[in-house]
Amino acid sequence: MPKYTERKEIQLIPIAERYQHIRPKPQLPNFAAIIEGVDLTQPLSEAVKYELRLALLDFEVIFFPPVEISNEQQIELARVFGPISLGAFHQRSGDNPEIEVIENNRERPPEIDHWHTDISWVENPPRGTVIQIREVPPYGGNTVWSSMSKAYEGLSEGFRAYLKNLTATHTWEVSKWREYLEILGDEALIKGVTKFKPVHHKIAKYIPEVDKTVLYVNETFTKRIDDVPENESKYILRFLAEWIKNPEYTYSHRWEKNGIAVWDNRLTQHFAIADFWPHHRQNFRVTFNEGDQQEQLENQNLRAHLA
Ligand SMILES: [Fe+2]
Repeated sequence: MPKYTERKEIQLIPIAERYQHIRPKPQLPNFAAIIEGVDLTQPLSEAVKYELRLALLDFEVIFFPPVEISNEQQIELARVFGPISLGAFHQRSGDNPEIEVIENNRERPPEIDHWHTDISWVENPPRGTVIQIREVPPYGGNTVWSSMSKAYEGLSEGFRAYLKNLTATHTWEVSKWREYLEILGDEALIKGVTKFKPVHHKIAKYIPEVDKTVLYVNETFTKRIDDVPENESKYILRFLAEWIKNPEYTYSHRWEKNGIAVWDNRLTQHFAIADFWPHHRQNFRVTFNEGDQQEQLENQNLRAHLA
């Protein structure tokens, strides 16, 4: 007789006990929370910043209701979560090189409609991302996030044991970045190839701050599982790429103009739905790093402090 696997009980985060200064409203159990009670046009108190960092760890992706903020205020918001990171190859916003502008219109059709975690092709990928959608199409253009802690937790014990010590190769060269750089010319391509060589990341990545292991491969940048036969790598990656799409792990966010999202790049993957072309959509993005040891320790202790 096949053994029936019991579904695990979910322990919901006790929001009322943990949060005194902000109001997180999760859209799924322990995932994707809309944050109310924060005025992003004003300087944030240390208590609010602290709880925002906690909310990002608790809910993996958080949202703020639409509000007009300046580039500087968006950069300040990113700084709440970590030092600003370099970003990728997108065009920059005027006086603020920290901000990447991802713009789609008739001339530039959207094409980030594939699952990924931002910039997993560097040794130390950014810890997270803040985006504000400054122009929205009349309909569509949702972003979907998938919880990599839920996806990992959902796998059987045997499969998790198989993944435990494996690493995978990540490189931008298997993504569309290669085509972009080819269009820019040989010089850009050679610069990219020389500067950003393939890197290796653990597939089952342990995140100490939340004491959880997450699935860390994505269909956009992961080239292969290291040290297993090529076909095994190919089919396991194909399986994992399907696995993370389970609606139980995913939340689709409908944007309003000036809506804001902050996500943890280690705990989630995302997919930008490209159903709105040729309409205009403009996305201002700032990525942030894990921060120094002191900040990491502080994050690690967040749960203990408020538990
Ligand atoms: Fe992205």
